[in-house]
Amino acid sequence: MRASSVLVTGANGEIGHGLLTRLAAEQRSIVTLDIAPLEPSLAGLVRREFTGSITDRGLLERILAEFEIDLVFHLAALLSTRAEFTPISAHQVNVDGTLNLLEFSHHEGESHGRPVVFVYPSSIAAYGLPDLETKMRARRVREDEWNAPTTMYGCNKLYCEHLGRYYARHYKQLAADPPAGRVDFRCVRFPGLISALTVPSGGTSDYAPEMIHAAARGQAYACFVRPDTRIPFMVMPDAIDALLRLASASRERLFRTAYNLTAFSPTADEICQVVTRAFPRASVQWNTDEKRQRIVDSWPADVDDSAARRDWAFAPRYDFAGAFEEYLIPTIRERYKSECQIPNPKSQVPK
Ligand code: SER
Repeated sequence: MRASSVLVTGANGEIGHGLLTRLAAEQRSIVTLDIAPLEPSLAGLVRREFTGSITDRGLLERILAEFEIDLVFHLAALLSTRAEFTPISAHQVNVDGTLNLLEFSHHEGESHGRPVVFVYPSSIAAYGLPDLETKMRARRVREDEWNAPTTMYGCNKLYCEHLGRYYARHYKQLAADPPAGRVDFRCVRFPGLISALTVPSGGTSDYAPEMIHAAARGQAYACFVRPDTRIPFMVMPDAIDALLRLASASRERLFRTAYNLTAFSPTADEICQVVTRAFPRASVQWNTDEKRQRIVDSWPADVDDSAARRDWAFAPRYDFAGAFEEYLIPTIRERYKSECQIPNPKSQVPK
């Protein structure tokens, strides 16, 4: 008999770190797929690690043959800044890869006779507001508003939300015996995420975590957005909680395909003030990259997450003050305690 397991793609990434730790604490059998070998701290948590691409269908077939997957967390993606430099690769990974995983999940569901729960992190990048004035007027944006993203990553995420809905409700709808319902697709639109343990790369919301980690190391940071830039954020423990809570929510309570999530919406300057108080050796300069700024300016200043709160009891634990006082500052202090001389985290566009 094949073993019943959770599949996590992109397991080496920022969300993967937190998620693997939580799943392992719950004694779940975990199978991972990542383009790079798992970091040693993660490798010990998983039952089986596959190194390879989500675009490799042969590899997905091997996983299908060997494991009974009943839950997928599909985290692998190229983020918004990186995707603008390599839009075709971004489309291949973000869209073709997701399509492969949906097809894989459909076959899994078919082979063990019940739907596979497919949890998909979409993004604030699925929105596209035309200009700053509209952004300021828009207030708390709801899921179905301003869905004209300006980035390849945002287009990819928005389209994959629709692909997920298609697989869940309309798959091969003209077949004599339509096999819909084999994929139980559930999706959140994450705001910017901030982890005390890892630093992101390739995103456009990266200025916040980069600033915080640089400050904790007592290093100067050149912030690539204006001080008044405002988008929603949440900290990683709340993001992991949200994914697990959505995965275990009862299907009949879920009335949307994609749910907004947020915890707080500070300006870049408000973040700067908190971190420079907490880490007096820190210094922040403002060195706006107009092109990346335009991307952040097209994302809402705040989102309406009432549907997630109502349907599956989303309730982030950390507000802005709590996130820094109870999670970020103490955990980051601990993380860098033994560090002496480490190179500056880059504030430039990732390669
Ligand atoms: N953090 C992502 C990015 O900046 C947004 O979801 O691309």
